Amino acid sequence: MTARDRFDLLLTHACIATLDAARDDGYGLIEDGAVGCVDGHITWIGPTAELTSGQRDAARVVDAGGRLLTPGWIDCHTHLVFGGDRADEFEMRLEGADYAEIARAGGGILSSVRATRAASEDELFEQSLPRAQALLADGVTTLEIKSGYGLDLDSERRMLRVARRIGEALGLTVRTSFLGLHALPPEFAEDAEGYVAEVCDRMLPVLAEEGLIDAVDAFCETIGFTRDQVQRLFERARALGLPVKLHAEQLSDQDGATLTASFDGLSADHLEYLSEHGVRAMADAGTVAVLLPGAFYALRETKLPPIDALREHNVPMAVATDLNPGTAPLRSLRLAANMACTLFRLTPLEALRGTTVHAAQALGLHDRGVLRNGARADMVLWHARHPAELSYWIGGSLADRIFVAGRTAT
Ligand code: NIG
Ligand code: FE
Repeated sequence: MTARDRFDLLLTHACIATLDAARDDGYGLIEDGAVGCVDGHITWIGPTAELTSGQRDAARVVDAGGRLLTPGWIDCHTHLVFGGDRADEFEMRLEGADYAEIARAGGGILSSVRATRAASEDELFEQSLPRAQALLADGVTTLEIKSGYGLDLDSERRMLRVARRIGEALGLTVRTSFLGLHALPPEFAEDAEGYVAEVCDRMLPVLAEEGLIDAVDAFCETIGFTRDQVQRLFERARALGLPVKLHAEQLSDQDGATLTASFDGLSADHLEYLSEHGVRAMADAGTVAVLLPGAFYALRETKLPPIDALREHNVPMAVATDLNPGTAPLRSLRLAANMACTLFRLTPLEALRGTTVHAAQALGLHDRGVLRNGARADMVLWHARHPAELSYWIGGSLADRIFVAGRTAT
């Protein structure tokens, strides 16, 4: 064994849920397993008993004592960079106002836009960092963060820069999505077309050129943007070589998922009002269905996403927090997984795939979400023995050790 092959990290005696479909069609369990890592990647995985004495001589050995090891969790849909909060609207909703009414009265997303515009880059960073830290403490090692509370070039840029800074500060992978078409800013209140042009012709190309955008998102809804407007944005994104995704069919059926699929979109998200036709289009394109049970819960929705049809057509399902100040002040992906099981009737296996392998797919990342040779060594060792516990326990803390690229993150 050469110095190059020597493991920098060796985990032994873990119950490993690899999620590797090559092992079996379930958790891909290795009961008393070991994982060896070199330079931030997995180079060996298998039964602890099969390790040679040379392999056991690693730079660092962690005996997992039978605890559960999974891939690092991936939160593929968050809006965690924003100024202020909307606890006042939570109170209003409890007094009878609904989300769309509040939005039409200038509250909702626009109230977060005011607070975000008023915050400096450092203030935005200070306010947002603890939300990412909370996700990390609960096992998240890769996350997506959207813009969409700035709605002018400078403020959207500030949000995206803060998102990147959060990744650097915590040593996590952050993928950024440009969500310029989230709401109509007050200065374009009477001119939706003018704002769409500003987003497509100015904001998108400038921010893409600055390297701040990994994907392009929009809110296709009666209180958001029309299918035609979103199509224009997606055409621009395609011309710039950027992948697309969409807030689709959350409050009504706008046929947005079909549009997203026609652009080979990474994901269509929310999907409570998704039609059979939309499900088929997603299946054909390989577009991931991102389920956001936190928003469903907070808005006390009753219409469920068509889980059976998604299953039947083998559409990969991911689960994310949607962490945002309005519809999902939810700072735990594990709680989102629990809600996906309890509210949407996902199985614990589906929920775990949804926060690992399918979430990676939703972000277009192919080097993580599964524990196998060659994968990034992003892993969570849990105070648990069986993978179903991850969506079973509600609250508290369950993560024991979190490894990002083979290094301890907490
Ligand atoms: O994903 N649906 C639109 N956007 C967010 C809500 C944002 C907000 O209310 O601030 C969502 O639910
Ligand atoms: Fe969202």
